[in-house]
Amino acid sequence: MTYRIPLSYNPIDVPALTNVLTQYEGKHHNQIVTDFEGSLSELTSIPHVIAVNSGTSAIHLALLALGIGKGDVVVAPTFTYVATINPIMYVGATPVLVDCESESWNMDTVLLKEAISSLKKRGIVPKAIMIVHTYGMPAKMDQILEIAHGEGISIIEDAAESFGASYKGKMTGTLGSIGIYSFNNNKVVTTYGGGALITKNEKFAEQARWIASQARESKPFYEHNTIGYNYLMSPLSAAMGLCEIPRITVRNESRRRVFTVYQNELKSFVEFQTENSISYSNRWLSTFLFKNNDIKDLIFNLLIKNGIETRYLWRPMHLQPLYGKMEVYLNGCSEEFFKKGLCLPSCFKNEEQQAEVVRLINGLLVNA
Ligand SMILES: Cc1ncc(COP(=O)(O)O)c(C=O)c1O
Repeated sequence: MTYRIPLSYNPIDVPALTNVLTQYEGKHHNQIVTDFEGSLSELTSIPHVIAVNSGTSAIHLALLALGIGKGDVVVAPTFTYVATINPIMYVGATPVLVDCESESWNMDTVLLKEAISSLKKRGIVPKAIMIVHTYGMPAKMDQILEIAHGEGISIIEDAAESFGASYKGKMTGTLGSIGIYSFNNNKVVTTYGGGALITKNEKFAEQARWIASQARESKPFYEHNTIGYNYLMSPLSAAMGLCEIPRITVRNESRRRVFTVYQNELKSFVEFQTENSISYSNRWLSTFLFKNNDIKDLIFNLLIKNGIETRYLWRPMHLQPLYGKMEVYLNGCSEEFFKKGLCLPSCFKNEEQQAEVVRLINGLLVNA
């Protein structure tokens, strides 16, 4: 369905794209991908970047590069998109799910500790903790890194939603062993399908790039001893990326402005993810909790009826038919968020569009 006002929208700057493509005329097209990787490396100050065809493939590669496979455990949030968890299953490992906390809506560190100590009692040390910076809000990385380092556990940062967000001045995605980004259509920066894996570790990077290009042995002919994947980014997507990267600050600031307008206009009726003095969210999506399930549904139906896209917050993984039997550590937060929360449109063509969304919601809330 096409909405008059979509949740997320980035226009293609056709002259800028044409300009980038013209600069590469006559050169090997792989150079565009290499240069996009270079621009990401410069932006993140992380030496190794592999541009790939999706955030999901970047997560898959991260797990493979860390040598995670059958019989291993990966601790991951239950309050996330399914693409965080599916790659854990692709490699034959087992996800153990942990609920979120009510401030940042990211992994609850008290429950994380509980999960790790319960696993340890059974002789299991997780191979990795997957951290998601949900809807663009940085997770509490200091506490999480301390827990992980104490146990020798790797951190994979699923920063698919939080490109440009930062924690203590460092970009999300740069704080763990491996970070991943998504540049799919609805993200703050899009390549119309794409992602990236970033790491300081040369070996992880080499392994990931090799697996992402069909695991071809370094021989003059095609020799393969390992199953690889066709995951590298296309040059056309990379050209889009080169146009978009310089706009990251403008994009983030615009989403943050949209969030602030909602926050000011709806403040007596809603709760939301809170930033603190050390975290900077890109406010990928403006997300709010309403008083209860019924009010949330009334707003949902009203917006959809008016051609305005809105979505429920993530249905937690432990409530998914696919993952309902996984081991899980709960505190009620993710279930409450699913019941009470909505994602509201987060990019507008003009201010009047957001005023219209606010008017509709406020009209309903004052009469509820
Ligand atoms: C938290 C999270 N992880 C992973 C992904 C997967 O990214 P992609 O759609 O580029 O495969 C997404 C986005 O869609 C996401 O929101």
